[in-house]
This record gives sequence, C-alpha cells and structure tokens, in this order.
Amino acid sequence: MIFLKSKEEIEKIRAASRVVVEVLRRLKQEAQPGVSTWDLDRIAEELCISMGAVPAFKGYRNYPASVCFAINSEVVHGIPSKKKILKEGDILGMDFGVCLDGFYSDSAITIPIGHVSPIAQRLLEVTRNSLYRGIEKAYPHNRLFDISHAIESYVEQEGFSVVKTFVGHGIGRSLHEEPQVPNFVPHNGNWSKGIRLKAGMVIAIEPMVNVGRPDVRILDDGWTAVTVDGSLSAHFEHTVAILEEGPVILTQFEE
Ligand code: MF3
Ligand code: CO
Repeated sequence: MIFLKSKEEIEKIRAASRVVVEVLRRLKQEAQPGVSTWDLDRIAEELCISMGAVPAFKGYRNYPASVCFAINSEVVHGIPSKKKILKEGDILGMDFGVCLDGFYSDSAITIPIGHVSPIAQRLLEVTRNSLYRGIEKAYPHNRLFDISHAIESYVEQEGFSVVKTFVGHGIGRSLHEEPQVPNFVPHNGNWSKGIRLKAGMVIAIEPMVNVGRPDVRILDDGWTAVTVDGSLSAHFEHTVAILEEGPVILTQFEE
C-alpha cells in the first residue's frame, strides 16, 4: 500500500527534514580527526531532541543509537563507538533520521576527513552524483525503475558498483513505507519498469556505491555492513517529494 501525501503532510515531512539537515550540518562540522563516532552520536541526539524531534533509528529493530556511521569499507549501519576514532584520510558516512509531529525524514551524507585519496574523492563524487541522477527521474508518470536505472547505469559507467543488499523506501508516517526504491533494476526473469510514479509520493533514495565488488557482509555486531572485498564504500540519501511539477528534495543540504 503506497500512501500519497497531501500538501500539508509534505510540509510536515519538510519540517522533520529541517531537523535532519541541521543535525547533519552540525555532524559535518564536528567530524574531525580524533573525534569518535560515539561523540558524534551524542551531539546528534542532543541537538535533535533540543529541536523537539525524536531520533528515528534508536530502537528501530533494536538499533542502539541515533546515527548510523560507515567508515571507509563500511557500507552502512555502523554502530557508534568510543573506539571508532576518526583519522585524516577516512571517509565517513553519516545516516540520520527523525520523527517530528508524526512524520519521518531520513538523509545520509559521506564526507572526507581531511585530505583523502583521489579514489576516495572520486567515489564521493560519483555516489553523490548518482543520487541526483536518480532524483532527476522522480517525475509523476515516470516509472520507479527509471530512478533505479539512472543510478545503476551511471555508477557502472564510472567503473564502480551499486550495492544490491539494501534499498531506498517510501517514507511518511513510518520510516519505511512502500515502495522499495532499489538502486539497480531488479530482473527476476522479467524486465518490469516498476510502478508508475504519482504526485504525492515521498521516497528516500539512497544509493550505496563500492569501489570494488558489490557484495557486502554483516559483522558479528548484527548491524555493520562492510564490503566483502574491503574496498571503499559511500552512501548518500535524500528524502524527496514527487510533486506534479517534479521532484522536491526535502533534505537539501545547503553548503
Ligand atoms: N537510512 C537507513 C534506512 O532508511 C537507516 C536505517 S538504520 C536503522 O534504512 F537503524 F534504523 F535500522
Ligand atoms: Co533510508
């Protein structure tokens, strides 16, 4: 069941998104060599609550923290830890969501810590660009997999690979709603183009891109997804409303 959102409901998701953007902006400032992901999680949770919002991930399927981090070959869902201390040259994914006034918003960025290698820099650019390639297809009357195909074909053209294990999602009164939004065109023997997009849909598009092979495995903590081949991985996510006029990025991050 896909829930179409009214203008008023989209405004509520926009209000939740403002908190998400503020928190990610603050995390981006605070993420420096010597800082732990545990420190960052504390900062995020405190700022979120001070803005009247509830961290969306804490307690979700027993996830123990407010932010999901991913350093270097970690793909997504890394649990904050005092032992995870940032160092120059790392790339750091930060995924954060909130619930405000009954509506959710969800966004992720991956940032360089100081100077990073040329390949890391390229990975960040390609992954961010792939998100925007997908968003550009989020028009009413297009098909869902137009988004997926735009992301996948761009990433592969750039020589990187798209993670297939996790997907984006509808979002609204729940963190995860239908439809699932894959970053690749699924073909189970058929070549479906996916559902037709409609004005009022709100979706979180979240490509995860690896430098090497697409395969991931989950560490013994039950959460942290890492690349099997140890290659670098990046993740960007926006919550996007599909309006008659086209896509509106509710979690736009002002530089
Ligand atoms: N952006 C991720 C998602 O939408 C974050 C969820 S992590 C969890 O699936 F901790 F909430 F599970
Ligand atoms: Co998400």
